[in-house]
Amino acid sequence: MDTRHAYWDRVYTEKPETAVSWYELCPASSLDLILRNAPAKGNVIDIGGGASFLPDHLFEAGFDEVTSLDLSAVALARVARRLDRFRDRHRCIVADVTQWSPDKHYDVWHDRAALHFLTEPEDQRRYGAALRSALAPGGIAVIGGFAPNGPSRCSGLPVIQHDSASLLDMLGTEFKLLESIEHLHETPGGSKRIFCFSVISK
Ligand SMILES: C[S@@+](CC[C@H](N)C(=O)[O-])C[C@H]1O[C@@H](n2cnc3c(N)ncnc32)[C@H](O)[C@@H]1O
Repeated sequence: MDTRHAYWDRVYTEKPETAVSWYELCPASSLDLILRNAPAKGNVIDIGGGASFLPDHLFEAGFDEVTSLDLSAVALARVARRLDRFRDRHRCIVADVTQWSPDKHYDVWHDRAALHFLTEPEDQRRYGAALRSALAPGGIAVIGGFAPNGPSRCSGLPVIQHDSASLLDMLGTEFKLLESIEHLHETPGGSKRIFCFSVISK
């Protein structure tokens, strides 16, 4: 198996989803930004969604369909089990976003702390290409990762920090910024990590 898949499967095998440093019971910043900017309560794709509780909250808020895409089949199996009651409306895709071609359009692309692991320009280019082809006309992307004054590593791996300007620079000039916020995340261990979330559209 690809080493990226194996790495993340090991992370989720070794710890329950409530013990990983990025755990949040209610992903309030993501949820607020999606609710404020989504063109409709249609379909959302959560890129690098892992075992996040965002899909649970999106269904509660009335969204039609949520897709969780992640490298880790272990993480996705946990979300699928948790959301079994929504199995007709919750889809899981085990994939590396840099190798994935969307088969449909999404109203909302959400990514909290997945893009920031893509430190290679070629991976960033492929991420941008997937985003461009996945986004429905009028769709939005909510992308969050460590802010420029945040940590330089996450889960033992190096990350690239972004503010909204550097994110737009990386993704290309056809995207425009709708909103950006900073969010201070407290890990289960009590340390604090500063995130920057940007909402963009084509
Ligand atoms: C720090 S965790 C964040 C998980 C989730 N977004 C959350 O906020 O709870 C990063 C996640 O991104 C996934 N990931 C990392 N690189 C990825 C890639 N190239 N393609 C798809 N998923 C990726 C990992 O498997 C992991 O679940």
